[in-house]
Amino acid sequence: LDIIHIAVEMAPIAKVGGLGDVVTSLARAVQESGHNTEIILPKYDCLNYKYIQDLQEVQAFHFGGSKVRVWNGKVEGLTVHFLEPENGMFWAGCIYGRRDDGARFGFFCHSALEFLRQSGKHVDIIHCHDWSSAPVAWLFNEGYRLNNMHDSRIVFSIHNLEFGAPLIGRAMANAHMATTVSPTYAAEVAGNGVIAPHLHKFHGIRNGIDPEIWDPYTDPFIPVAYTTESVTEGKRAAKEELRRRLGLRQDDRPMLGIITRLTAQKGIALIKHGIYRTLERGGQVVLLGSAPDPRVQNEFVNLSNQLNQSHGDMARLCLSYDEPLSHLIYAGSDFILIPSIFEPCGLTQLTAMRYGAIPVVRKTGGLNDTVFDVDHDKERARAQGLAVNGFSFEAPDAAGLDYALNRAISAWYEARDWFQDLCKQVMQQDWTWNRPALDYIELYYGAKKKP
Ligand code: ADP
Ligand code: GLC
Repeated sequence: LDIIHIAVEMAPIAKVGGLGDVVTSLARAVQESGHNTEIILPKYDCLNYKYIQDLQEVQAFHFGGSKVRVWNGKVEGLTVHFLEPENGMFWAGCIYGRRDDGARFGFFCHSALEFLRQSGKHVDIIHCHDWSSAPVAWLFNEGYRLNNMHDSRIVFSIHNLEFGAPLIGRAMANAHMATTVSPTYAAEVAGNGVIAPHLHKFHGIRNGIDPEIWDPYTDPFIPVAYTTESVTEGKRAAKEELRRRLGLRQDDRPMLGIITRLTAQKGIALIKHGIYRTLERGGQVVLLGSAPDPRVQNEFVNLSNQLNQSHGDMARLCLSYDEPLSHLIYAGSDFILIPSIFEPCGLTQLTAMRYGAIPVVRKTGGLNDTVFDVDHDKERARAQGLAVNGFSFEAPDAAGLDYALNRAISAWYEARDWFQDLCKQVMQQDWTWNRPALDYIELYYGAKKKP
């Protein structure tokens, strides 16, 4: 198959959240299964250029009153076509956050289809994502399908229904096939007005992580490489390095990591509660997070100052976006806390497990599909051929969170051998794209059969 993703995020050159990770890692996994997979992305001025190889300008076309320059490059082994409109829409120093985001991405979607039409490229599947490339679905049906692109089919993936529901609804109606990023989230949103009419073509396929980008054995950002056999030593070295770098006390106590966008979705009050509960239990906490909303960012700056005063060598809040530090936190933490109010899939629990950090999560969306509570989910895990791998809770309140976190911390203090076996066990589970990529390929073939 020839597959093209039209997307506005792509890790590691233009990543804001999990969408960027998924575009790159899904495309790589599908490509490795023998299908030609390419990406069309805006040429932002803020791209992380050091990860782009062989970048060159290849052509230009006129569209919507602007010249659009086309560049090609390679990112993580994928061919990427960068579109750079000379009207300067993507010279904004950011990916999102302008008042005219809708218009900018609408223009991008339209020019991406125009680029495909003019290039005469053969495309079986055009895969678009979320509200930001949703317009591809209806622009295709309205203007391109009957032209020279009659062979192509549209697959639309919802990563988060919270944003741009009307656009998502319109894309749902126009796409040949649609997905969201986990089976539980698919069930949670099935009754939503923009989804319900289209359930016949809607599938929940859980995300995976890229096993090469997230690999404690080759990770350049951690001090000692480790595998399942050497996880105890590897994690001890990473924890020491993390504490050293952040000025935290070096002694025998558990480390809780939190790596997240600080938004309501992620359970802000529960995150704060988790920090204090862990400190009360003698644990240490490192949070890496940034808030798109300046008020929330400010709240956390205040909390950070307070904690520096009251628990200076026990907790550190790093309020920035820092990819290398995130690797060290996954490796140096005993637990990763993810108390989301809702979570379409979530990638941090998967990455945590690959680094032998035990997830403590709220049972929602993809967290429910990937984290199996050590005390309560043995049967459910076994039914999937898996072993239990974490701690979870249901009620989105302090008591709920305490229930999971207390059990996790107690296990660390009181059952150290068991805990270390658990780390090994979770590291061995396969949360890559191996399985879900096959589901996508099957779905692509299903889309090809649609009239
Ligand atoms: P979402 O897309 O809703 O933010 P995901 O769990 O799907 O949540 O993906 C988040 C991704 O962003 C993960 O790869 C995580 O490691 C990364 N991430 C989140 N916050 C930060 C941060 N402050 N610094 C570095 N990486 C971060
Ligand atoms: C969204 C969701 C997250 C998901 C990611 C990638 O940002 O919030 O749960 O993992 O998209 O699909």
